[in-house]
Amino acid sequence: MAARDVWGSRTAFVLASIGSAIGLGNLWRFPYVCYKYGGGAFLIAYAICLLVAGIPLLMLEFSLGKKMSNASPGAFRGVHKNLEWFGWFAVGTGFIICTYYSGIMSYCINYFCYSFGLSWGNTPGEFFFDEVLGITNNPQKPWELGAFKWPLFAGVLVAWIWIVASIWKGTKTVGKVVWFTVLGPWLLLIVFVVRGVTLEGASQGLSYYLTPDWSMLWTINPGAGQIGAHELWLAAISQVFFSLTVGFGVMIAYGSFMDDRTCIVKNAWIIGIADAMTAVVGGFAVFGALGHKAFLEGVDVAQVVESGPGLTFVTYPEIINGLPLPELFGVLFFTMLSLLAIDSAFSLVEAMSAAIKDKFGFTHARANLTVAGVGLVMGLPYLLGSGIHWLDIVDHFMNFFGLPLVVLGTCLIVGWYYRASRMRHFINERSEGKIGIWWDIRIQLIIPAFIIFMLAFEIHERLKAPYGDFGLRSQEVVFGWAMLLLVLLGAVALSVLKGSKEFQQRQPASSEEDA
Ligand code: PFF
Repeated sequence: MAARDVWGSRTAFVLASIGSAIGLGNLWRFPYVCYKYGGGAFLIAYAICLLVAGIPLLMLEFSLGKKMSNASPGAFRGVHKNLEWFGWFAVGTGFIICTYYSGIMSYCINYFCYSFGLSWGNTPGEFFFDEVLGITNNPQKPWELGAFKWPLFAGVLVAWIWIVASIWKGTKTVGKVVWFTVLGPWLLLIVFVVRGVTLEGASQGLSYYLTPDWSMLWTINPGAGQIGAHELWLAAISQVFFSLTVGFGVMIAYGSFMDDRTCIVKNAWIIGIADAMTAVVGGFAVFGALGHKAFLEGVDVAQVVESGPGLTFVTYPEIINGLPLPELFGVLFFTMLSLLAIDSAFSLVEAMSAAIKDKFGFTHARANLTVAGVGLVMGLPYLLGSGIHWLDIVDHFMNFFGLPLVVLGTCLIVGWYYRASRMRHFINERSEGKIGIWWDIRIQLIIPAFIIFMLAFEIHERLKAPYGDFGLRSQEVVFGWAMLLLVLLGAVALSVLKGSKEFQQRQPASSEEDA
């Protein structure tokens, strides 16, 4: 068997991990989730979750991959031979996310084309929902699927071809592509922020963004139609996981390609901070634009648009309309968004295909094509008129339940079964800056307790009012849970399939070896 792929340089590793982290999560998901969950209060919760959970978990995933020298399923199998399914569950959750992620990439690619003639005109909202999506969100008829949007399909096709091409030669191409996809977008982001915050009325939006309503952080029962604290914290922590690509097995796979001298602690900090900065800085552009819109319409920022996955496709065109040379900025902006998205999407495909290669001994090309083919087909329902509605549901279930469950399991498995202190020693051996016992405490106690608490509250509230704030109909709730169950069953099925000889012979890491 060939030697394991290794990053061409340590910078390539850092850039690829930053590339995976920074994506649509920062400029598409962060603003609408932040807007929906209270602006300033969400921002505080987000920062706390990043420091307490996000960055320590990044260290955990890198070290687990490096230690076991395997992608997620093999890495968990390395901890205990019956835990392989859990590794598949993690990549499976990410894979479901990737199927709709490519749909959002398709919006970006289509918007790149629309930018040439500023097709969205003066009413970007109507353009997006009526023309681009042909939306059929009719509460009376939840199963009205609507028309299949061929331009969106063309976009998805381009996205998948682009993803596969980017990782065709494994870490070699990834290491090069990311220079371009990580650094370019930052320059453009600065232009957008400057424009967003100088729009007339922007200050109203910025104050919504930056002034926390502290009570939201602890008020569990704020009254009908309001956001409870448990929901806000769950939204914040799952946004941190989504944004850092933690809990998908991606950083485990990337860690497994690390060379022996890469400093795990320092890099986790660099990646975590760079990712959060991109989201927070990008937020200035979006909230500036929201303030502007509120100003024009004479309403409150909290009411100015319906928050949801469509938010950014309405606010960014509005900023673009207000720029000199709007066509040029439109083209540049959607190029930037696509570039940011591509290295996140391919990191997930890498994680999945590295897992398949490790287990079944597939060639690189066969593994990638299989993953891309299945991903493309599974993403087709999101291109229907009702697609964005289903996307919202799948996004909600995968991020509010799937992802926290994966992280909870990871903490319990590594923290208690493998033992956090043992992993910490491994991390410290590979790091200049050392981490102390606080890391063990977070992995073993704080993060699991936090997740269990939030999930218990959330499930309790859902059971009490199944059609509550989220506005879901019963069929949709069933659909969300069924989807999670399917990922779980798929994970178990993949783990019982017989793998290549080398994979089957892997023995769990012995406890003496590095205790
Ligand atoms: N971290 C990516 C982002 O913020 O856009 C999202 C992401 C990429 C999630 C890849 C999952 C994934 F597998």
